[in-house]
Amino acid sequence: MLEQKTPAQVSAGVPTLGQRLSRRKPVEKLMAETENGHGLRRTMGFWQLSMIGIGATLGTGIFVVLGEAVPVAGPAVVLAFVLAGVTALFSALAYAEMAGMIPASGSAYSYSYATMGEFMAWVCGWCLMLTYGVSVAAVGVGWGQYINELLHLTTGLSLPATFLVGPLEGGLVNLPAATVVLLSMFALLAGVRESTRANAVMVVIKVAVLLMFVVIAFTAVQDGNFAPFMPMGMAGVSAAGATLFFSYIGFDSASTASEEAKNPQRDLPRAIMFSMIVVTAIYCLVAFSAVGALEWTEFAEGRTSLAGILTVVTGTPIWAIVFAAGAVLALASVVLVVLYSQTRILYAMSRDGLIPKVFSRVDAKGTPRANTVITSVFIALPAAFIPLGPLADATAIGTLFAFALVNVAVLVLRRSRPELPRAFRMPGAPMTPLLGVLACAYLMFSMSLSVWISFGLWSVLGLAVYFGYGMRRSVLETEPMVEARA
Ligand code: ALA
Repeated sequence: MLEQKTPAQVSAGVPTLGQRLSRRKPVEKLMAETENGHGLRRTMGFWQLSMIGIGATLGTGIFVVLGEAVPVAGPAVVLAFVLAGVTALFSALAYAEMAGMIPASGSAYSYSYATMGEFMAWVCGWCLMLTYGVSVAAVGVGWGQYINELLHLTTGLSLPATFLVGPLEGGLVNLPAATVVLLSMFALLAGVRESTRANAVMVVIKVAVLLMFVVIAFTAVQDGNFAPFMPMGMAGVSAAGATLFFSYIGFDSASTASEEAKNPQRDLPRAIMFSMIVVTAIYCLVAFSAVGALEWTEFAEGRTSLAGILTVVTGTPIWAIVFAAGAVLALASVVLVVLYSQTRILYAMSRDGLIPKVFSRVDAKGTPRANTVITSVFIALPAAFIPLGPLADATAIGTLFAFALVNVAVLVLRRSRPELPRAFRMPGAPMTPLLGVLACAYLMFSMSLSVWISFGLWSVLGLAVYFGYGMRRSVLETEPMVEARA
């Protein structure tokens, strides 16, 4: 939609709408911003970055959503995990290339700004609010389920439904979900260094309880439970794959810590790939042992939690209690890390002027305090009132779109800036990023109409905010036009 400049615009140097939407932030400018004078502190190495990646990824998807995907795919849920994992893998490779080249805390948003221009960067940033903000809410809801399960296993009591689920599920407010979001907010306000240490401990615990699950469930695996393998056909596998894609979201979180990493170019690509490998291996083992230990039809009958499977397999609640306690810690770590990532994306968008400046203000310790409080309170609301299913689906569709854009960014920069140093090169490009885009599109189109409607409404809101605020307040609005190479 390129419009003609009026003579007055030409003389005043006012950009046209087309120029505004397509203005890019050159890679060099992005790099300069991340290197000099930002208020965040560089404290993280490879292990901390990997712990962020694994911490943000292993969560409600495997602990809760797996149980909900089995009735959709049958034992072929293992295949659904592979399908979602392959889609995520293309994007992980694309992220590794981009994060190694442009280590900006805006992550996919910043990559889009450098390659496709401001409008697509905004669209990407808006989608990332689903990836991070809405997924924090979703994981908070999963946390509430495990708190309740732990309470029930240890005392026989349950939280009253009024305070355990929101109005759409017959309750009033999901208090545990809102509480875990606000607790994470306090942890982040205490400092990033402290939060990353707490996260590392929680990551070790969650990997341990998932491996414990695999060992126990493996002893009960029966060949017969894998037949029929694909009771709902390939359609069931694709639909379950789209839902389970949620479980892979998070490896990208490490890239939002770019500006707090000591050596981002070297460590980020490695941390992203390492997180993906660890997570995929754990998912396949857990899914295989879960459907091997319990007939798939039983998942549809309400015994959907992994803790429940442990009780069935061992005949005692002890292991289920250990597992549920681990899950409570595990899911809290996801909330913590993903909330952190959301604040960093907003920080980058605010630095560019697309959202209010309050989001990029940092205190003397390098913590964006106001950003953290506002973001957490906003996220606590959907956590308190919306059920897990719609939250997880909204997260997945927004993320698939954002991931597709990262693959496109790789393609664009390979063409426009082939000379830029790349710490990691996506193997098989341009075929692999193209396949990455197609895989994201395939899973997006496997999602239901209601998910698309929510996504459409979210997008319309995003356009209104951009045209009403971001486009006019953009830092690039007051700078000379950069007819940039990317
Ligand atoms: N991948 C994250 C989870 O499953 C969002 O909780």
